[in-house]
Amino acid sequence: MHLQETFFLSSAQFPTLFNILGGVLLPKRVCDRWDQIWNFRARPDDLLIATYAKAGTTWIQEIVDMIQHDGDIEKCKRATTYLRHPFIEWVLPGPFSLELAEAMPSPRTLKTHLPVQLVPPSFWEQKCKIIYVARNAKDSLVSYYHFHRMNKNMPEPGTWEEFLEKFMAGQVLWGCWYDHVKGWWEAKENHCILYLFYEDLKEDPKHEIQKVLQFLEKDLENEVLDKIIHHTTFEIMKDNRMANYTFQPPAVMDHSISPFMRKGTVGDWKNHFTMAQNEKFDEDYRQKMARTNLAFRMEL
Ligand code: A3P
Repeated sequence: MHLQETFFLSSAQFPTLFNILGGVLLPKRVCDRWDQIWNFRARPDDLLIATYAKAGTTWIQEIVDMIQHDGDIEKCKRATTYLRHPFIEWVLPGPFSLELAEAMPSPRTLKTHLPVQLVPPSFWEQKCKIIYVARNAKDSLVSYYHFHRMNKNMPEPGTWEEFLEKFMAGQVLWGCWYDHVKGWWEAKENHCILYLFYEDLKEDPKHEIQKVLQFLEKDLENEVLDKIIHHTTFEIMKDNRMANYTFQPPAVMDHSISPFMRKGTVGDWKNHFTMAQNEKFDEDYRQKMARTNLAFRMEL
């Protein structure tokens, strides 16, 4: 994998350099450690949670953690989401996620936003279980836009209109949404991947959590399942300091601009798209998603 380009994108607080790696926009400091990321040694009992950004990653992380700890809320509050499930490619000042992961005893649960072609090969070699969560493009875009506004590590989003254009062109961190969701959708034919949708989780959390239980070969009492559903609702997670990212200093994430736990709904895109933007987006979407049977619900 070679770097195609290095350039500067302004971000609110930090001068941040970005690279295009294999066609995907990533922070330069991720690309600088790419050899180490690519050669990451997955273990056979690792569970990988993979998503495009803003698909409900933190939500499924909390669900999985609760399942793994038999619904014990205190155990799930042992550390922040970031420390419980190392974000393998994310290089922040402070502990590097890969080192956190390497030091972690098995079985580990790890997180990535990488598109399928950039996932370290050892995950495939070790036949690790992977849970992928996808969210419809319009709500992902809206959520990503607000995340860019509040997260000072991200490039400046520009106006809503400008960000919408960048999203459609795939010129955003972790690359093109369309390729991401399709790439993982195809990969599930050959690998042990449970492919879930944010919209289904929202509509019927019990049903979707049961799928996760089955995938993880866990059997829990109905009472415990109800506890998990309750603990992982948006309202409860919004107030959970170990899951709502308020542990980040305001210089990194400014929740007064837009909270990380923002709305947690399906269909908020309707409050953002103009009619003209919606028509243009739909037309472009039809072309980009023409050759896949992967279908999303934009509303419930
Ligand atoms: P919104 O910005 O639309 O509110 P990620 O964890 O992948 O960064 O995704 C964040 C998005 O998931 C945010 O979407 C956040 O509010 C939403 N989210 C987090 N926990 C949730 C929950 N328990 N139920 C529903 N949505 C949740």
